Amino acid sequence: MAIQRPKGTQDLLPGTIEQWQYLEETIRNVCRDFGYEEIRTPMFEATELFQRGVGQTTDIVKKEMYTFLDKGDRSMTLRPEGTASVCRAYVENKLYGQPLPVKLYYVGPMFRYERPQSGRFRQFHQFGVEVLGADQPLVDAEVINLVWNLYQRLGLVGLEVHLNSVGCPKCRATHREQLQKFLATRKAELCNDCQERFERNPLRILDCKNPHCQAVTGGAPTTLDTLCPDCSTHFEKVLSLLAGAGVAYRVNPRLVRGLDYYTKTAFEVMVEEIGAQSAICGGGRYDGLVEEIEGPATPGIGFAMGLERVLAALQVQGKFNKKQPKQFAMLIALGDKAQNRGFSLMSALRARGIPISMDLLGRSLKAQLKAANREGAEFALILGEEELERGVFLLRDLTSGDQVEIPLDKAIEVVSMKHQRGV
Ligand code: HAM
Repeated sequence: MAIQRPKGTQDLLPGTIEQWQYLEETIRNVCRDFGYEEIRTPMFEATELFQRGVGQTTDIVKKEMYTFLDKGDRSMTLRPEGTASVCRAYVENKLYGQPLPVKLYYVGPMFRYERPQSGRFRQFHQFGVEVLGADQPLVDAEVINLVWNLYQRLGLVGLEVHLNSVGCPKCRATHREQLQKFLATRKAELCNDCQERFERNPLRILDCKNPHCQAVTGGAPTTLDTLCPDCSTHFEKVLSLLAGAGVAYRVNPRLVRGLDYYTKTAFEVMVEEIGAQSAICGGGRYDGLVEEIEGPATPGIGFAMGLERVLAALQVQGKFNKKQPKQFAMLIALGDKAQNRGFSLMSALRARGIPISMDLLGRSLKAQLKAANREGAEFALILGEEELERGVFLLRDLTSGDQVEIPLDKAIEVVSMKHQRGV
């Protein structure tokens, strides 16, 4: 059997790649407008970074990492997410020496060995933002507002930001105690995974998708019940800022993110229309992460969104029904000499930024005109041996069918003018 792409990966082909480019361009525009700068980190990192950063008890670290030994016997992992890498780069490059906060964004592939299904891939793409060095609730609101602003620019509707506060290590210890007390008598009813989580990471039990576990934990204490005054004030301020900015949010006390580094604000954005994998964006504050990887104590907050899921939402909501912009012109040269002259004319036009192509298969006039129409070209520049001898070419308007003869030495001027008028 012919070699196929690995399960859970995709070939992004012409025809849909334009949607990716449009999405990425919109992302870059929003980031620029909000004052965020791009960072690119390696696609693989020392495995320990994710073990310590994302957390040993998380599904990502326990089950989903692409980990391998390199030829020097070092354990490496294809990045399953971007936050730990950005924090590592922040420490390694001493970005804390710059005026704070440092506001960064990234767009690129991530890798998780998950069971592939609609909206869930093994290589997927995230757009993420990380702000380091600011602990004010204002930053939480700005970051969530950036997500909202992007969705507005894309024209997505019906989105809801689910918000929670998972507290700080201080109030989380109280919550852990209360939760374990609540669950102690019900432990036997929990699924195997949750029984394991009971000691190591009981908070995650609240996030279990098993309906039985959900029923058992129905009345369990949430982190919002045990927030300390500092975390509580922080959360209230975030909510009031978001309300003022017109962001549609819902407080969801059962929202628990699947990564261990979160403190205080945690959030996800859902779009039900795209199916079971409805979370298009997730994020939150991580005030202890930089210290965890041996950097200076630095508060942080950010999010990442799955671009495949954003594109699915755009498709479901019919945002891609518009026709692609047309190719401007096709050069049709017939015969060897005309081809040489045509090639040099096309090069001169391209050097002036005019989009033009020519037939690369040596086809007949009829076939080339058909191809020009298929490409949606507005004009054809036709150059045969006879025209070449007379120093002219034919400029055909492919929409109206009108055709005029133009001297070859006026070609650049006339075609440039037509192009400018169209732009
Ligand atoms: P996450 O919730 O693991 O968070 O992933 C963020 C988003 O990436 C998800 O909401 C989803 O849209 C997308 N995603 C995750 N896994 C897959 C997959 N297998 N296939 C397709 N899309 C997927 C993080 O990664 C954190 N680093 C976010 C963050 C940044 N928190 C603070 N800063």
